[in-house]
Amino acid sequence: MNTSSGAYSLAEMERLAKEKVEKKSPIFWSYINLGTGDRQTFEESLRAFKRYRFQPRILSAKRQRSTFTTVLGQPIAIPIGISPVAGYSYLHADGDANAGRAAARAGTVKILTSVGDLPIEDFAAMVPKDGHYWAQTYLFEDRRNTLHIVRNAERLGFKAIVVTVDSPVEHKASGSNRNVKDCFKDIHLKTPSANIRYIGGKKRDFAQQHSVAELWKPDQLAHKETFCFGDWDELAWLKSETKLPIVLKGVLTADSARKAAAFGVAAILVSAHGGRQLDGSPAPLEALPEIVDALKDTKLEVYMDGGIRTGNDVVKALALGARAVFIGRPALYGLAVNGEDGVYQVLKDLRERVDNLYVIYAVVHRCKN
Ligand SMILES: Cc1cc2nc3c(=O)[nH]c(=O)nc-3n(C[C@H](O)[C@H](O)[C@H](O)COP(=O)(O)O)c2cc1C
Repeated sequence: MNTSSGAYSLAEMERLAKEKVEKKSPIFWSYINLGTGDRQTFEESLRAFKRYRFQPRILSAKRQRSTFTTVLGQPIAIPIGISPVAGYSYLHADGDANAGRAAARAGTVKILTSVGDLPIEDFAAMVPKDGHYWAQTYLFEDRRNTLHIVRNAERLGFKAIVVTVDSPVEHKASGSNRNVKDCFKDIHLKTPSANIRYIGGKKRDFAQQHSVAELWKPDQLAHKETFCFGDWDELAWLKSETKLPIVLKGVLTADSARKAAAFGVAAILVSAHGGRQLDGSPAPLEALPEIVDALKDTKLEVYMDGGIRTGNDVVKALALGARAVFIGRPALYGLAVNGEDGVYQVLKDLRERVDNLYVIYAVVHRCKN
């Protein structure tokens, strides 16, 4: 890894990020690393990678190799994109745009969250035009919020809509983690959750300042718009509203993947929301093979996120059938340590390690432990 941040590996980047973030707000570090319930899914998502081993193909090292691939028909330089994450602006003003620029430099996809604090129009104005951006949305309580994202994404050259479907309710953390959202009390922004334009059936009045804490109190304001009961009909409605390809994020079973295929989505992002939603759901890596198998006769692409921390993790997920993987927290760590350059370093480091493994990797196999 580039030494300008002082980090030599992603684990080191995480350690430096922890030091830096905790100095400002220990509770915000807990927020980033929140796992709901007993953190079973959060921890399993990391551990799952350790149950697989490479079977090296000796004496057949590939001199010619490439980390390039395509997603939804578009070329990307590395099979590693950035997942949608709300919270960039708490670490760095314009944090989302920094991550967007880093992704563009690395030649890969950045997914913009719908509940972040940078208006989607501002994000688009601050990142290179030839970058590769997807816009995430929820099936918001008020369809006008969903359409606000979709219409802007279409107009501003985003290449896909990512619909997150794993959050009908907000699951809570237990133990010492249960009050992590108290960190919102210390966060003051000009336009928090800027892309939520309608609240309680009315156009939001931005002159009326709401704090982050107020917006995200259970059953209040933005919280009520986001954690709502979108269903398959709502997905069908969204599909009828846009020609952009839809990536369904938060799928963890073969049944749901098959149903999603029948609804005409273009891709599945196997994800457990970083262990921040239903605790006890499978680790994405564990769910991946059955979903890949269920979709093998379709044209749907399958991606995964959750627990990717090393190049080995990336290659294991690809070997199990993912076309590409996405990272959530590691990009935040890079941002906390060194802004845009920090995020770029994380992607660059992963790329180098993946390239190295491409020399020898053949298949992975599951071990008993
Ligand atoms: C602080 C934080 C905020 C997140 N916000 C969103 C969000 O707004 N929308 C979404 O679909 N997923 C969100 N996620 C989940 C990520 O997109 C992704 O699924 C997860 O972070 C992947 O796991 P990883 O952090 O181990 O890479 C968030 C994750 C974190 C850590």
